[in-house]
Amino acid sequence: MAAGWNVGDWVPPPLSGRATGLALKGVGVASNAIALPRPRGEGNGEAAVLPLLQVSAVTRDYPGPRRSLLTRGTPVRAVDDVSFDMSAGRSVALVGRSGCGKSTLARLVLALDRPTRGSIRFGGTEIVGADHATLKAARRNMQVVFQDPYSSFDPRYTVERLVGEPLHLLDPAPRHDERRDRIVQTLREVGLLAEDMQKYPHEFSGGQRQRLSIARAIITRPKLVVADEPVSALDVTTRARILDLLAELNRRLGIAYLFITHDLQVARAVTEDVMVMQEGRIVERGPTSRVFDDPQSQAARELVAATPDLRRALARRLAEQG
Ligand SMILES: Nc1ncnc2c1ncn2[C@@H]1O[C@H](COP(=O)(O)OP(=O)(O)OP(=O)(O)O)[C@@H](O)[C@H]1O
Ligand SMILES: [Mg+2]
Repeated sequence: MAAGWNVGDWVPPPLSGRATGLALKGVGVASNAIALPRPRGEGNGEAAVLPLLQVSAVTRDYPGPRRSLLTRGTPVRAVDDVSFDMSAGRSVALVGRSGCGKSTLARLVLALDRPTRGSIRFGGTEIVGADHATLKAARRNMQVVFQDPYSSFDPRYTVERLVGEPLHLLDPAPRHDERRDRIVQTLREVGLLAEDMQKYPHEFSGGQRQRLSIARAIITRPKLVVADEPVSALDVTTRARILDLLAELNRRLGIAYLFITHDLQVARAVTEDVMVMQEGRIVERGPTSRVFDDPQSQAARELVAATPDLRRALARRLAEQG
């Protein structure tokens, strides 16, 4: 385990005054870093400045498809020398066309997969190749919401068990009444009811299931939620409600999202910054509204062009200006 403070012990800085999702969307924040406590044992009283997440020169190659019993095709480079930082409380969208490597990068950040090379630090601690205890501490603070609300849950278990599952990551893990209280509180936070605890996943709609996924993701009060196309499977109205919920949780709990989407419009609803990915590389990064209004890379221009609402809005604005 890396020397330094333990991700499990990390207490975030006060959230007042920091940039939030929808409310301060488009408002520039000078620094991409925050003041965090110094690693234990290095203390000279000053606060160290550490990003929440530091991805450095990360590459992931997958073996090429098998050609015969003994030969394989050229390896697929799904993620190609990617580096970026994220600050606490400040959400970042990862956008790009299908197959550009977004989900692979998400799995690497979540330590569900291991990079071929490169380093990933969460709260200052290296998680690539980390031991079980380090990963357990990191997972308290880093949770996930996937796209498909129908396959996210084991249909045999009640909501109480499914939503409460990450509580075992806490040290000490809450028991009995405390556990139930936390589950009830979290269900309420995502707009569900205490009595939903005894239900099974099939008793909920797609939007409600995504609320269950979000409840499971926030029950340990993580600092980072990696959300991989969390609203893509939802109809437009439900999508807007879930985006509102995510933005509110960012404002209230200071949760930062690494928010994967192919839709810049969705990115704009919940993030301040956007990274554009193309063929495994980050080709552009900037404030979401700037990338939206003035895309620099070909990949970003294509994504903007594929966002019909924006084209309509721009046409309207031009018409208003005569
Ligand atoms: N387990 C795997 N084995 C081999 N190749 C893989 C594997 N997972 C992903 N890939 C390849 O890596 C590349 C990136 O895939 P990835 O799923 O990360 O893309 P994505 O941006 O999430 O796409 P989408 O928007 O369709 O979800 C693709 O070429 C894909 O075929
Ligand atoms: Mg994907």
